[in-house]
Amino acid sequence: MNSLYQKIWSEAKPYYLTSRPMDVKHIEWFIEMVETICQIEKLDESLLMPLAILHDVGYATLTNPKTANYYDKDIRRAHMKAGAEIAEKILKQVKYPDDKSKKIIEYIGIHDNWAFGEVDMYLQDNILGTFKDFDYLWIYTKIGFDAIKIVLKKNDLQMLQHLKDEVSPIHGKKPFSSNYTKELRESYLKEREKDLHITFKKNIP
Ligand SMILES: [Fe+2]
Ligand SMILES: [Fe+2]
Repeated sequence: MNSLYQKIWSEAKPYYLTSRPMDVKHIEWFIEMVETICQIEKLDESLLMPLAILHDVGYATLTNPKTANYYDKDIRRAHMKAGAEIAEKILKQVKYPDDKSKKIIEYIGIHDNWAFGEVDMYLQDNILGTFKDFDYLWIYTKIGFDAIKIVLKKNDLQMLQHLKDEVSPIHGKKPFSSNYTKELRESYLKEREKDLHITFKKNIP
């Protein structure tokens, strides 16, 4: 990761440390994913990387981020609005180029708008579409799975079923922006199934 992204990450990290329990891991995983996908799909890392690093900083401003239900629509709106404001401050602080900052702040302010039925922008904009793929795929990772099953009050099996049923936040036309993210979902699903199989075996007396 280049030094400018590192600077953004070190400014953002304190927010995440006071925020949701899994947020630092969420962003660290996201950073790795962005590095990979930008090489494969030749995407503009100067937009996607700051977006990935900063997109959820707004959760830190909630009254009780550690126990909040992130699926609540008001909370979704609040974290996007607050996130855009914090991102603006951080990008200014690290002297990120103005035109890029403007776009990144705009993305952060709308990044979860699929939850409000606005899906076209994810289909038309590859940066936003790819971002959405990864943000959604996070709960398929082991850490994401364990964190979100608590929020959704599900046991392991119910959580696995939830993942299998949820093909993409964007239904219809093009659920994934690339083959890479489409296949990543399949491989994470296989891993989570394997985890549960192991757990069951261990539980047999
Ligand atoms: Fe978010
Ligand atoms: Fe996120």
